[in-house]
Amino acid sequence: MTAKKRAPKHEASDSVRGEWLRRVEAEYRSAAITQHLGLWLLQIGASPDLVKLAMRIASDEVAHADLSFRCYGAAGGESLPHIPRETLELSRTSDPLELDVLRVVVDVFCIGETIAVPLFKNLREHCTVSVAKRVLDRVLRDEVRHRDFGWTALTWLLEEHPLQEQLRAVVAAELPLFFRRIRGTYAPPGVADIDAISPKDRAWGLMAPARYGAVVTRTLERDWVPRFKKLGFDARAAWGG
Ligand SMILES: [Fe+2]
Ligand SMILES: [Fe+2]
Repeated sequence: MTAKKRAPKHEASDSVRGEWLRRVEAEYRSAAITQHLGLWLLQIGASPDLVKLAMRIASDEVAHADLSFRCYGAAGGESLPHIPRETLELSRTSDPLELDVLRVVVDVFCIGETIAVPLFKNLREHCTVSVAKRVLDRVLRDEVRHRDFGWTALTWLLEEHPLQEQLRAVVAAELPLFFRRIRGTYAPPGVADIDAISPKDRAWGLMAPARYGAVVTRTLERDWVPRFKKLGFDARAAWGG
């Protein structure tokens, strides 16, 4: 006799399953990247506080991946995430390691984790399915610490590190590229027109593409412009560059 498969308590669409499986992959990748960054921080002699924070963040990201996978299962998902092994590491340029550390800090933390905070706030707002809400509660709580780690690390690199002049030049040159990338991810052309989402999908912690686009623009004004300004950079000019 085969066990009768239980239907999910809250009916979930293919979009819900697709999105939660994508989140499992993204969280798992974040865990690997942060673990690798922790090693780089050790190699460049960063402060023990920063190294320990990176380790703690890597551990958070493993928990996020695990919780997201449970949510995907509760939504009726039965596949395994597809994560090519070679994407689970950072890659070096021929520059000194400090410059590559800086690139990851800016791109992944000062930009990626900084926008993650308002994104997850929005995703959680209309989320009522408890298994999904539990994940979003935990992720949102942790992302604030992850964002702060990025800005602390960047301040150290730009204001205290002996290579600060070289490091500043990298931020000035590459900030436009990092911004283009985040726009391509969350606010590609035409996204403002797609503002419909079913209430059921929203209950599972999804939101309409147009809302992602709006959060990107708001984050520029609320976070990136003032935070980069404090460090001597014009984020608004970089945004348009
Ligand atoms: Fe995460
Ligand atoms: Fe994170």
